[in-house]
Amino acid sequence: MLVAPSVLSADFGNLARDVKAICEAGCDLVHVDVMDGHFVPNLTIGPVVVSAIAKAATKPLDIHLMVQNNTFFVELFAPLKPEYISFHIEEEKNPHRLIQKIRSLGIKPAIVLNPHTPPEAIEYLIEDLDMVLVMSVNPGFGGQSFIPNVVKKIQRLKELRDVINPNCLIEIDGGVTNENIEMLKDAGVDVCVAGSYVFKHDSFKDAIDSLHI
Ligand code: DX5
Ligand code: ZN
Repeated sequence: MLVAPSVLSADFGNLARDVKAICEAGCDLVHVDVMDGHFVPNLTIGPVVVSAIAKAATKPLDIHLMVQNNTFFVELFAPLKPEYISFHIEEEKNPHRLIQKIRSLGIKPAIVLNPHTPPEAIEYLIEDLDMVLVMSVNPGFGGQSFIPNVVKKIQRLKELRDVINPNCLIEIDGGVTNENIEMLKDAGVDVCVAGSYVFKHDSFKDAIDSLHI
C-alpha cells in the first residue's frame, strides 16, 4: 500500500515544516487538494502555495483537482512537475483529450470518481490512465467519515482494472485510518490518501507505518 498524506490537514502556518516531516516520515506521495470554490464548496490553494509545497517536498506530488476548469489548472500546475494530476470525471466534457494533454506534459494522468459515480463511467478510459482515485467522502473537506458502500465500488473497479489495464493504480481518498486500511487493501486499493489521520497523530511516522500494509 502506498501512502499519500493530504496536506489539507497540515498546519498551514508551518506548511514547509510539515511537508518535509511527512516526507522524512516515509510517505510515498504528497497529496495536494486544489479546490476552486465552484466545483466544491471550499477554496484551498493555488500555484504560489503549491510551488512552496513542491520546494519543501522530497517525495513526488499527487495533485487532486476539484475545480471547474480542469485544463486551465493542469496548465497552471504542470511546471511544478507533479507525478500525478487527477481530475473529476463529473466535471470534464472531454476527458480523453485531457488525459492526452496531461501525459504530453510528462505527468501521469488520473481520474477521480465521486461517491455516486459508478466505475463504468470511466470503463473506456481505464486503458489510458495511470491511476483512478475513488472518493470515499464527498469532496471538499478533510476530517469527514468514510462512506462504507464505496468498498463495493472498489471491488467492481478492480475487476475492470485487472482486465483492461493492470498497471492502473486504484487510490482511495477520504476517512482513511488504521481501522479501515486492511479492508481497503483486501478490496483492491493500491494507494491511500490520509489527511486528518496522519496530521492528528503524535507521530507522523507511526501513522504512515500503520497504513503501509
Ligand atoms: C477531500 C480531499 C481529501 C481530504 C482527506 O475533498 O480530497 O484529500 O483531505 O482528508 P481525510 O483523510 O481527513 O478524510
Ligand atoms: Zn484529495
